[in-house]
Amino acid sequence: MWTHQHLTGICHLSREDILFILSRAMYWRELLEHSPKSSDILSGYSMVCLFFEPSTRTRTSFEMAGKLLGMNVINFSLEGSSLEKGESFRDTVRTITRMKADVLVVRHRASGIPEYLATFLPCHIVNAGDGLREHPTQALLDLLAMQRTFGSIENLQVAIIGDVLHSRVARSLVLALKKLGNKVIVSGPPTLVPKDVEALGAVRIFPVEKAAEGADVVYLLRIQRERQEAGYFPSLREYAQFFGFKENLLRQLQKPAVVMHPGPVNRGVEIEYSLVERDVSLIEEQVTCGVAVRMAVLEILLREGKVR
Ligand code: CP
Repeated sequence: MWTHQHLTGICHLSREDILFILSRAMYWRELLEHSPKSSDILSGYSMVCLFFEPSTRTRTSFEMAGKLLGMNVINFSLEGSSLEKGESFRDTVRTITRMKADVLVVRHRASGIPEYLATFLPCHIVNAGDGLREHPTQALLDLLAMQRTFGSIENLQVAIIGDVLHSRVARSLVLALKKLGNKVIVSGPPTLVPKDVEALGAVRIFPVEKAAEGADVVYLLRIQRERQEAGYFPSLREYAQFFGFKENLLRQLQKPAVVMHPGPVNRGVEIEYSLVERDVSLIEEQVTCGVAVRMAVLEILLREGKVR
């Protein structure tokens, strides 16, 4: 039974919650292959997307998901809002909620903002990425893409490679994979793979080649140039040379693996330019799964989630 008003982190979900979202997402994913793709089951509900950091995939897919389900969707724009006149963040979100928004989708650079909003707003809060903490719908869409590829989302071996330190995607994905009984390995430059990820159930293995051996999925993380303080690695060129994942490395693995990446991709840095569009790449499937997962999340929160 679904008991959550909000989706602020994978950390709050049980294995059953995750499987419930995936089952509905699988339904919507199949529907996206056909026309018409839309439904009016959430007609009359409103969603406001508040993105205080840049986004292409998450923001657009939430907007598309809401519209495909018949919702009114408003994209709040920082530029031209009263935040520019000094209105506080708290007053801004309270004002929007008083317009009777049913769902707020929030991305913010500060870790914990969705949890904070959930303490005083009466609507449903969905975390679209908060600081270094969580990006729950990204992990769910990744699971859906894996489930469609492997037929199951249990007993897989997933190697997550790259900038784990700055990655909310990695944190949510490790939590989700472990709750479903998968093996998770993390690797990359040791300076970007913190020891505390082991507390989430992941195993650190170096170098990258060893970490990828035996994996069903090689999941590459973006080098977050906007979050790099100096000194984690000498240069992007050297990162690409020593840690970037290349087709010949994939071919050398004893077991065939697929490649995933949350996007946006730095082609030629964490992943070889051509690998992005190869058959073994699930990157575009992840994008489509993103729409389906966000449809499922909106449907479940609005139809099953209790509001205070
Ligand atoms: N993966 C992801 O969150 O992409 P965007 O930043 O484009 O939303």
